[in-house]
Amino acid sequence: MRVDEIDVGSLTDAEIHELNAFANVLREESHPEDPLLPDEIARVQYRTMPSHVVLREFTVRSPDGTLIARLSTDWERAENNQHLMGFQIEVSPAHRRQGIGTALLRTAIAAADEAGKTLFVARTQDRVPAGEHFAAAIGAERGMVGHTNRLVLADVDRAMVERWVAEGPERAPGYSLIAVDGPAPGDLIDQMVDVLHVMNTAPIENLQVDDDIFTVEEMRDFEKLLFAEGAQRRYLAARHDATGELVGFTEMWRGQNGLRDTVSQWGTAVRPAHRGHALGKWLKGTNVLRVLDEWPDVVDIRTHNADSNEPMLGINHALGFKPYTVDINWQIAVDAARKYVDAR
Ligand SMILES: CC(C)(COP(=O)(O)OP(=O)(O)OC[C@H]1O[C@@H](n2cnc3c(N)ncnc32)[C@H](O)[C@@H]1OP(=O)(O)O)[C@@H](O)C(=O)NCCC(=O)NCCS
Repeated sequence: MRVDEIDVGSLTDAEIHELNAFANVLREESHPEDPLLPDEIARVQYRTMPSHVVLREFTVRSPDGTLIARLSTDWERAENNQHLMGFQIEVSPAHRRQGIGTALLRTAIAAADEAGKTLFVARTQDRVPAGEHFAAAIGAERGMVGHTNRLVLADVDRAMVERWVAEGPERAPGYSLIAVDGPAPGDLIDQMVDVLHVMNTAPIENLQVDDDIFTVEEMRDFEKLLFAEGAQRRYLAARHDATGELVGFTEMWRGQNGLRDTVSQWGTAVRPAHRGHALGKWLKGTNVLRVLDEWPDVVDIRTHNADSNEPMLGINHALGFKPYTVDINWQIAVDAARKYVDAR
């Protein structure tokens, strides 16, 4: 079996079409209710990659030349977490249980050795149980177990959400909300990046990862990618008026990965010293109302939460978010993965 590396930085339109057609087969398997990713967005994604992400991709073909499996490895040029490498192995359904996943794991180990990485992380979800079986078989451990939770907008109790928003300034006097729909304004971006670090207070369960350290360049790179994909942002910050400090935020994107009918709820966080004033409910309630009023054609909001994140789940369950998929973040030392492939 031959594993070939592809140069992700110089793919032709035809090569991206082939890779995207393969990815769409797996997308259809796990999310048959969602639209396929159009080639034009796949082209944007390959050609607008954040510069701090180091992505390598490898493919396996059948004897007749058909693409049947792919490996992506990634790591971030950042201050922290330099021991980590993420990987994603995808084998087309008709070619599973023939050792191709194991062969690609061997390739991932070589990539980790080259980059000096010692811990693999990967995510599976329960719509495709083979992923969990493979992860368990190679000896990976569950680092964090969570769900993608989903709010169907037709089911939202609008009166309750309006109440949360009306109560916001009463329960949190001396704070105001600031909306950002486009790229972060130059006079706010340092603070927006700084408050993003509050996400490091969310539970990570057993994951052997350190705090993330975010930068202005990273935020600019993600904005560039998402706006180029045609996605739309709804960001809200909570400001402590007396000091001018941003003390909380919530961020949503509509149309990420071509999902025009879906809003992706990214982070929501409030600085520990400013908790207890219902800022989380004010922030999230306000953004949900913005979605209902500005995008009446959106069907759902999806978000990922660790199952142990009680404060966030408390708000999400009250809003009506329901479990959608079970997502497991696995981790395995590169040396442990090596033992598995060496024994095969
Ligand atoms: C997970 C995946 C990559 C495995 O690819 P694969 O080529 O079938 O893997 P291998 O043949 O090398 O399997 C290695 C071992 O994993 C275990 N395994 C893999 N699939 C399994 C399944 N469906 N049920 C039970 N065990 C399974 C077995 O122990 C297997 O060894 P065995 O066949 O000798 O019993 C493939 O199922 C896939 O593409 N799934 C969708 C994408 C995904 O979830 N990827 C994982 C995230 S990185």
